[in-house]
Amino acid sequence: MNVTSQIKQPIFKEMELFEKKFYESMTSQVALLNRITYYIVNRKGKQMRPMFVFLTAKMVSEGVVNERTYRGACVIELIHTATLVHDDVVDDSNRRRGFFSINALWKNKIAVLVGDYLLSKGLLLSIDNGDFDLLKIISVAVREMSEGELLQIEKARRLDITEDIYYEIIRKKTATLIAACCALGAKSVIEDEPQVENMRKFGELIGMAFQIKDDLFDYSEDAIGKPTGIDIKEQKMTLPLIHVLNTCTSKEKSWLINSIKNHNKDKKRVKEVIAFVKDNEGLIYAESKMVEFQQEALLLLNNYPNSEFKDALILMVNYVIERKK
Ligand code: IPE
Ligand code: IPE
Ligand code: MG
Ligand code: MG
Repeated sequence: MNVTSQIKQPIFKEMELFEKKFYESMTSQVALLNRITYYIVNRKGKQMRPMFVFLTAKMVSEGVVNERTYRGACVIELIHTATLVHDDVVDDSNRRRGFFSINALWKNKIAVLVGDYLLSKGLLLSIDNGDFDLLKIISVAVREMSEGELLQIEKARRLDITEDIYYEIIRKKTATLIAACCALGAKSVIEDEPQVENMRKFGELIGMAFQIKDDLFDYSEDAIGKPTGIDIKEQKMTLPLIHVLNTCTSKEKSWLINSIKNHNKDKKRVKEVIAFVKDNEGLIYAESKMVEFQQEALLLLNNYPNSEFKDALILMVNYVIERKK
């Protein structure tokens, strides 16, 4: 059995029911919207966020989930989908999940509106059911994700971006939603605030490792279902490059900066930059930081009694850094 089916085994029934509810949560009276949401659900992603919701809920409650847990998982996946649709507009990216992105097929105008539609459907699913405690967790994540994307635009192009600013960006744009998954999963079944906070922190740490992994993919040539090598083209400085800029000679630094500033659309030059980052241990350094976050996340699971849910969550933590897409 492969790792993902192993992880899904203790939440198999929940994930099946989730998929049905998730699709239903998107439907609309507008035919164009329905065509697009149909396109989206037929190209599903890894669904790691709902998996985090169900696994944390079951781990802290000895296997109990309820309708709130399902709704929370749906809201988070709706919001995740909305941000991906918007992200591909922002990043001018034409592929997602191995197919054309929404902006590639329907253009930016429609993609922006579809993203807003999915976001509103998510928020309403919580409101209509009175899940205000969960909505609070989710709304904080939505605010931070928007801030994170804007902080990235503000800072990531500055060629003096520090490692700490990079961590702040990825904490906001990515880790915060995974933190929300784990906090919400716990909160949907228990009242104990310190435990909810512990799970939030766990999600945040693993979310940091998750985005470092995503940024490492950009340096590979593997088929991951979305374009690689676009971060430098978009002048997005990520950890491998930041580390190399901080450790190379000033002459090398000038060359790197000039390449990114003035030759970022030149494919050959971008390839040279990528090779330079690889040769100067940029990837190795980022991998080591990713593992540090992952290990710190694992520590937070220590106090929970052993269960099949905890085992699956540990597998999930390892999958975040070992995944192939
Ligand atoms: C992609 O998330 C966006 C990031 C935060 C890096 P996923 O890699 O979970 O995307 P899907 O849902 O599996 O496509
Ligand atoms: C992550 O940003 C997406 C969001 C948090 C909205 P990226 O732009 O790095 O993600 P990918 O690589 O396109 O999925
Ligand atoms: Mg982006
Ligand atoms: Mg992107």
